[in-house]
Amino acid sequence: MAEKLVIFDTTLRDGEQSPGASMTKDEKVRIARQLERLKVDVIEAGFAASSNGDFEAVKAIADVIKDSTICSLSRANDRDISRAAEALKGAASSRIHTFIATSALHMEKKLRMTPEQVLEQAKQSVRFARNLVSDVEFSPEDGYRSDVDFLCRVIEAVIAEGATTINVPDTVGYAIPELYGNFIKTLRERVPNADKAIWSVHCHNDLGLAAANSLAGVKIGGARQVECTINGLGERAGNCSLEEIVMAIKTRKDYFGLEMNIDPQHILAASRMVSQTTGFVVQPNKAVVGANAFAHASGIHQDGVLKARDTYEIMRAEDVGWSANKIVLGKLSGRNAFKQRLQELGVQLESEGEINVAFARFKELADRKSEIFEEDILALVSDESISQEKEQFGFVSLSQRSETGEKPFAEIVFTVGGHEVKSSSEGNGPVDASLKAIEAKVESGAEMVLYAVNAISGSTESQGEVTVRLQNSGRVVNGVGADPDIVVASVKAYLSALNKLHSKSERVAAQG
Ligand code: KIV
Ligand code: ZN
Repeated sequence: MAEKLVIFDTTLRDGEQSPGASMTKDEKVRIARQLERLKVDVIEAGFAASSNGDFEAVKAIADVIKDSTICSLSRANDRDISRAAEALKGAASSRIHTFIATSALHMEKKLRMTPEQVLEQAKQSVRFARNLVSDVEFSPEDGYRSDVDFLCRVIEAVIAEGATTINVPDTVGYAIPELYGNFIKTLRERVPNADKAIWSVHCHNDLGLAAANSLAGVKIGGARQVECTINGLGERAGNCSLEEIVMAIKTRKDYFGLEMNIDPQHILAASRMVSQTTGFVVQPNKAVVGANAFAHASGIHQDGVLKARDTYEIMRAEDVGWSANKIVLGKLSGRNAFKQRLQELGVQLESEGEINVAFARFKELADRKSEIFEEDILALVSDESISQEKEQFGFVSLSQRSETGEKPFAEIVFTVGGHEVKSSSEGNGPVDASLKAIEAKVESGAEMVLYAVNAISGSTESQGEVTVRLQNSGRVVNGVGADPDIVVASVKAYLSALNKLHSKSERVAAQG
């Protein structure tokens, strides 16, 4: 029987560490449900000790997800580990992932600890974690740049203390596939109790090699767990992308000979959900989930694919969730049909109240837009304002004027803490005027570091999806808004970002 490859998704932890990608608890729960549908083996739900917000998110996910193991990251100290265990109490299956840096550079400059102190702390933390849960993962941070003799000592010691998974991170994305594969192989050969743990790879994408390095870790090194994120989300150039790993292992089963639990049909919905939630747009030529991933523009390719699909296609678009832009519902569709469509799209709203909000939005959209596509429905339910929790800022209405030769003007009504306020402003364009009108009342002082518009289903009839990234006092947040009117979409995105700035959830750095 083929060996199994464990898929460990860290979108909600390492992915979320990307500046601007921070998510609310509800958003994280929604993504965790999609990861469960995708049949991810382990979901790293967050870093419970880093903030109350992260603790609550890990706890909420642990309480609702039943088919995936829920994991929390923790530094190698008793307080962090206890917080992780506490957050994971409700999980059907839980894992604590503890880490400490082992490279000379990190130990000396960052931790200011001697190698012997690091070794002791690693042992002590795994021992402590094993008293709380039976599934403990240990990561030597910056493992790939660590001295191999020292690393072997640390790994042997933590396995002896009961670590069940050993993860070898290429924290800074420095590895080259063959070298990384051989590094894992050497470690597995030299650590005497290596067979008592599952070996895992965790690669960052600074040189664009995260997927290649991870696959080499699997093939050459014998790793049987890959840590990855949806769309490769993550700090700097990101983490290894889940969709690339899963489809490489599946498409080239002849070479890897491994089984996975993953159901790839849910990949595209997961990709869209993460992109809409974080505002990190997927590049069109991104493997598997990019808009062009299965598009054949050249005449020669089109002709070949029509004659025999496998002339130019190595995977089937439908297998990862692509379907031709399907009109899914119309103006006359009722609440039940809408609810069922949400289920088919893998969207699970928390309460009947949320379904009512989503249905009202759908009706409003259907009045303005003749054809409603899957993408429209996903956008309808993707932002946090669907939740019944009261937001500080909410959109009510907008009227704006722009005419050649005239100064654009906008008048906006929005809620602040449940009370309606009206504000108006001129601006360089209608979007600028609308956002200036909001700022005139809110005075957030936030700096806009990104403004991007995307057509959800590709044509001018489509809804515009706007991403706004704001920065204030060292915090970076993304807001996303969708509407057939891109000025309204911009206002919704701006208010969504202000809501995130308003809900101050400070966290300490995971790699601190
Ligand atoms: O990249 C890294 O080293 C990490 C560890 C905390 C596992 O994310
Ligand atoms: Zn990482």
